[in-house]
Amino acid sequence: MTQVKATNIHYHEGNITRDERWKALGTKGVTMWFTGLSACGKSTIACALEQALCNQGVACYRLDGDNIRFGLNKNLGFTAEDREENIRRIGEVSKLFADAGIVTLTSFISPYTKDRDNARKLHDEAKLPFIEVFVDTPIEVCEKRDPKGLYKKARAGEIKGFTGIDDPYEAPKHAELTIDTSKHDLDACVKMCLKALADSGLIQMA
Ligand code: ADX
Repeated sequence: MTQVKATNIHYHEGNITRDERWKALGTKGVTMWFTGLSACGKSTIACALEQALCNQGVACYRLDGDNIRFGLNKNLGFTAEDREENIRRIGEVSKLFADAGIVTLTSFISPYTKDRDNARKLHDEAKLPFIEVFVDTPIEVCEKRDPKGLYKKARAGEIKGFTGIDDPYEAPKHAELTIDTSKHDLDACVKMCLKALADSGLIQMA
């Protein structure tokens, strides 16, 4: 775990409680953490889910692996250390979004169990709900889809350390929800996510 580097810093409590903040916004915060191989469908589900939530008037926000790497995480690559830092930052950012009262959808490969568990722990300690969604689409299907041509490049040795090819993906053992996008269409996948949110009392089923 990264240690606090600064000295002489003091946590400053605000004047309002989380409940007051959530009440003002009219929603409840949560992080829905999508994990799975490249091209497994994480971002596609997150986008469709964001749309469905928005249509219901639920405040939501999507944090997407590729997108975040253009900004906040532009100084990170794909070594094990960089992936760890990538996920550490997103764990922290998603915690803040959830604390703000937003239904936060993160879609990162997040291949290492330890890093995902740290993100969960951050939420647990802050008493914020965390729903891990394992998008468990077989690698053969992901590789066949290959929308960005990355599997092809990885097989040709043009990308080193590609998840699922020559870098590990540690499958979650205790995800709250597991979805195989080769077995369900997008609409069904979105409904499963909405149900998981509703079952946790975070949204109402439309
Ligand atoms: S993570 O492993 O650190 O969680 P993240 O989700 O942010 O990864 O980014 C993954 C995306 O980066 C992939 O969808 C793909 O488009 C791209 N990418 C580029 N190089 C790699 C690589 N070596 N391994 C996996 N994804 C890569």
